[in-house]
Amino acid sequence: MGQLSKHIRILEELGYEYLYLEGGMADITEEKLKELEKIRKEIQECKKCDLHKYRTQPVLGEGNPDARLVFVGEAPGGDEDKQGRPFVGRAGKLLTKLIEEAGHKREEFYITNVCKCRPPKNRTPTPWEMEACFPYLKRQLEIIKPKVVCLLGGTAARAFLGRQVSITKERGSVINWNGYILYLTYHPAYVLRNPSAEQTLLEDIKKAIQLAYSD
Ligand code: URA
Ligand code: SF4
Repeated sequence: MGQLSKHIRILEELGYEYLYLEGGMADITEEKLKELEKIRKEIQECKKCDLHKYRTQPVLGEGNPDARLVFVGEAPGGDEDKQGRPFVGRAGKLLTKLIEEAGHKREEFYITNVCKCRPPKNRTPTPWEMEACFPYLKRQLEIIKPKVVCLLGGTAARAFLGRQVSITKERGSVINWNGYILYLTYHPAYVLRNPSAEQTLLEDIKKAIQLAYSD
C-alpha cells in the first residue's frame, strides 16, 4: 500500500468519511464556481418565460460545486424568492433536517430547482416553463458533474423524463439519464402535507447518498 493510501486508511479509521482536497483540485472548483456565476448573471436577465414577470429575483441554486449528489426541486416559493436561495422555507427546513438525520450536511450537496423563478401563488410550473428553463439546469449539471441527481417530486421527475410521473408509484426508481443516475422521491412539501411519508423520504435520501458515494 502506498503512503497516501495508508494515510487515507488511517483517516477512515478515525471516522472521516470524506476528504476535501486542496491544491490542483481547488483550481477546478474555482473554475466551476465561475461558470455557475455566469449562469446566475444570465438568469437575472432571463425573460424566456412569463415567470420572470412575477419574480423578486431568480434562484440559481447553492452548495458544493463538486457535489456527487444534486437535489432538484420544482421552483422557488415565497421564501426562496425573497432570499434568493433554494429550499429555505418550510419544505427546505424539512429537507435540511432529513439530510442531517441521514448523517450529512446540506453544504455537502448542491440544491436547485427546475425553474429558477417563482410561479405566481406557487402554482406548478407549466411544461413549457420547465422546458424554457431546463437548459440552465442542464448546464449546472454539466459543470458540477454529480453522479446522482435526486428528483424531489413528480414535477421535477416530469421535467427530466418528459412524461407525467405519479411519484407515489415511482418513488425509489433509479433511472440512467444522460450519464447521471436519477433517483426519484417525494417533494418535502408533500411530506409536510402527509407526515406519514417522512420516514420514506428519509430512507430515500439515505439511498441517494449511498448511490452517490458508491463506486
Ligand atoms: N419548493 C421547491 O420546489 N423548491 C424550493 O426551492 C422551495 C420549495
Ligand atoms: Fe428564464 Fe427560467 Fe425564469 Fe423562465 S423561469 S424567466 S426560463 S430563468
